[in-house]
Amino acid sequence: MTKGKRYFKYFFTVLIVILSLNFTDSGYKKQSSNFASGFMSGVVVSANEIASEVGVDIMKRGGNAVDAIVGTAFALAVVYPQAGNIGGGGFMVAKLSDGREVSVDFRETAPSTAYRDMYLDSNGNVIPDLSTDGHLASGVPGSVDGLLHILEKYGTMKRADVMSYAVNLAENGFSINAELASALNSYGGEFGNYAGSKEIFGRKFSEGDLLVQKDLANTLRLISEKGRDGFYAGETADRIVVEMKRGGGIISNEDLANYRCVDRNPIKGKYKGYDVITMGSPSSGGMCLIYLLNILDSYDLKFLGFGSSRYINLLAEAMKVVYADRSEYMGDPDFYKVPLKDLISKEYAAERMRNFEFGKTRREITPGKINRESSQTTHISAADSKGNLVSLTTTLNDIFGSRVVVQGAGFLLNNEMDDFSVKPGEPNIFGLIGNEANAIAPGKRMLSSMTPVVMMKDGKPFLVIGSPGGGKIITSVLQSIINIIDFGMPLNEAIDAPRIHHQWLPDYIQAERNSLSEGVIDELKTIGYEIKTVNSFGRVEGIIFDTDGVMTGYSDRRGSGKAVSF
Ligand code: DON
Repeated sequence: MTKGKRYFKYFFTVLIVILSLNFTDSGYKKQSSNFASGFMSGVVVSANEIASEVGVDIMKRGGNAVDAIVGTAFALAVVYPQAGNIGGGGFMVAKLSDGREVSVDFRETAPSTAYRDMYLDSNGNVIPDLSTDGHLASGVPGSVDGLLHILEKYGTMKRADVMSYAVNLAENGFSINAELASALNSYGGEFGNYAGSKEIFGRKFSEGDLLVQKDLANTLRLISEKGRDGFYAGETADRIVVEMKRGGGIISNEDLANYRCVDRNPIKGKYKGYDVITMGSPSSGGMCLIYLLNILDSYDLKFLGFGSSRYINLLAEAMKVVYADRSEYMGDPDFYKVPLKDLISKEYAAERMRNFEFGKTRREITPGKINRESSQTTHISAADSKGNLVSLTTTLNDIFGSRVVVQGAGFLLNNEMDDFSVKPGEPNIFGLIGNEANAIAPGKRMLSSMTPVVMMKDGKPFLVIGSPGGGKIITSVLQSIINIIDFGMPLNEAIDAPRIHHQWLPDYIQAERNSLSEGVIDELKTIGYEIKTVNSFGRVEGIIFDTDGVMTGYSDRRGSGKAVSF
């Protein structure tokens, strides 16, 4: 399947899901079932109700928000295989009750025999689908090491207790919802290409069917008993390597044994009096978010007017410079010197907007000059009454990742290698381009857009938020934040409000269906913008705190997730 077709299919599936959720045109203000408010003890918001319930049950048994988020993440690997995973990777950002601000990078790495031009033919052209479909598309998975590390370092409960929910769900099965049935049926043909995938997902599904995953239960049990060795060594590792050999993949036993997640310092910004704590490289998400907020910090957005052409004009021009710099300067900091200080400084942000004028679009944008100093993801937000705020985004990259299930081990592998710049200027499945900073190298982590965020106000919890959405993760999180801070919207409206996106190249505004009025579209066209309507636009999962510390959780109307609390 070509990237274009893959993208189309992804959007088509999302559209079917959106339509099946019965939205009205102006329905973005109406949802309430994915809403949990006024609860003081703990909240978990995730893409699946069963998984959110797991997290809350863990907290009811005395666990903290870290225990809860790890249990929820493992449960998502069972009940939300579109993106929940043990064969992928992700990032976690947390503000802990003792005041520590921490982040963990469990992004996949390129296998040790990967090389820069591995997806190009002898003429230097990209070989279609090689970085997205099948075994060669997978990076070395990071989720298991990351989740276990997070639990051990910041959690309070035993691994076996936290993982028991996921083991049981896989062993005894669960009733699948309409979203999963429809997604599985859409990809049935592709699952048929791989023996392990066909065994589990290669049939027709209906809402309410019981999905039992015995092999996955066994793998989860091995992890629960042996820790990281239950995945990166022994039976599971051997099965991954056999699967690789079956389909021309290159992940080796050594690659698995050598995988380690990384504790990194979160990066921080300030926006209109609020503190932003988010993920640094190798995700571009946090840097781009802070960069965008730095640009918008000096504007009165409310005065411009939500959805007005001047507001969209400003957002689009801000997004363009940020995504241009993303393509040039962002990559794995262990391989490339990312000019972080400039990228998240207010001065650099102001400099990049110096030639911006309302009523104009800048065609001449290129990446800035920096003086170098030295089709699915899922987000979980969790908070407890002790003040632990945890934000975790994890992915297989595309929906169901590479679509390859490791035979006998029952889990899907990622196709995260496509997040590298496989060739300078060549768009990935999200249309994002890159260069040297994000070129493939053995052991390197591919650039991400995942943007797990925690925000504080005057030292008190304010917001836990994040989203899937490929390149639109950053702009989905951004607009949710400014809708709350600048437009004073309650959390549900802030998340549900229609969004726009511009990523520099391709050079057009992507506007969500019904996001812009006809008049505004005409004004933007007069300025010189091309506008394309898109259906898929992130699925934000958020928790907000009022000044008395009362928590409200909300799961984006665009998905079928759930905020659960007690
Ligand atoms: O790390 C990234 O930025 C991508 N692999 C995320 C993919 C994604 O969000 C797809 N979901 N809608």
